Amino acid sequence: MIEFRDVSKQYPDGTTAVDRFDIVIPSRKTTVLVGSSGSGKTTLLRMINRMVDPTAGAVLIDDEDVAGIEPVRLRRRIGYVMQNSGLLPHRSVVDNIATVPRLTGASRAQARARALELMDTVGLDRALAKRYPSQLSGGQQQRVGVARGLAVDPNILLMDEPFSAVDPIVRTDLQQEVLRLQRELHKTIVFVTHDIDEAFLLGDQVVILATGARVAQVGSPAEILAAPADDFVADFIGAKKGKRRLEVASRRDDDLVLADSAGFPVGLLARSQAYSVSDKTAQAGDA
Ligand SMILES: Nc1ncnc2c1ncn2[C@@H]1O[C@H](COP(=O)(O)OP(=O)(O)O)[C@@H](O)[C@H]1O
Ligand SMILES: [Mg+2]
Repeated sequence: MIEFRDVSKQYPDGTTAVDRFDIVIPSRKTTVLVGSSGSGKTTLLRMINRMVDPTAGAVLIDDEDVAGIEPVRLRRRIGYVMQNSGLLPHRSVVDNIATVPRLTGASRAQARARALELMDTVGLDRALAKRYPSQLSGGQQQRVGVARGLAVDPNILLMDEPFSAVDPIVRTDLQQEVLRLQRELHKTIVFVTHDIDEAFLLGDQVVILATGARVAQVGSPAEILAAPADDFVADFIGAKKGKRRLEVASRRDDDLVLADSAGFPVGLLARSQAYSVSDKTAQAGDA
């Protein structure tokens, strides 16, 4: 469990990026922080692994204040995946991934073996192991980034807009991959995005943020869709644009119960299919 207790962050230039943020992030589930650019998402994420320290309040992991944990040690327990994958350009794919286990003391052979296993985990063909990052597609690079994030076998995985730079079809694939990984690995994932559809697809818990990381609403996708807290949320999720003809009425295990705009249940949807339906819904709304 990760807990933000009345956390604020003011940068030295006076910008208040986060203003009194309070939330509990449950273990072994995916929590998505969603908000417009500049709402403080990256700042929040980086306060978990101490790339940024709060100016007030505390961040706790399993009741331990991270302020008392040495940053390097903390980061070895927490995976971090960035938008631009953060790969080292002059190292091969396998070496990029192996760097992380090497840092934690694995031998060169052990680290490479582990890196190849991780390529399997994230759906990368081992034939790509010797290539350099520039010889991979954007989607493949992001998969390497995810493999690096998983390389220390962390309980917590932080993902900062990891798929926003890839094209929509590849993004759909990568999103499905995250759902599959989460079914298999059960990590505590904190995922940041500005895309509400991505948030609803991936999140067990979704936190909608306004400027200063003000919490506009927190809940399951079904709860937020069923009852947007205010006009800001309604607007953000597109409820007013008539975009969502089908809504997620509830969730049974991994399935979503869909209802039409009058609230009548129209079907059950396996979560693995959810993206294509939300896509169709959006298109129907746009037409
Ligand atoms: N190092 C920094 N120094 C000063 N202001 C910053 C710094 N990093 C972020 N900010 C500001 O803090 C606010 C939140 O930024 P950020 O956490 O990056 O938001 P998001 O990830 O949601 O786009 C923005 O106004 C941004 O300009
Ligand atoms: Mg950001």
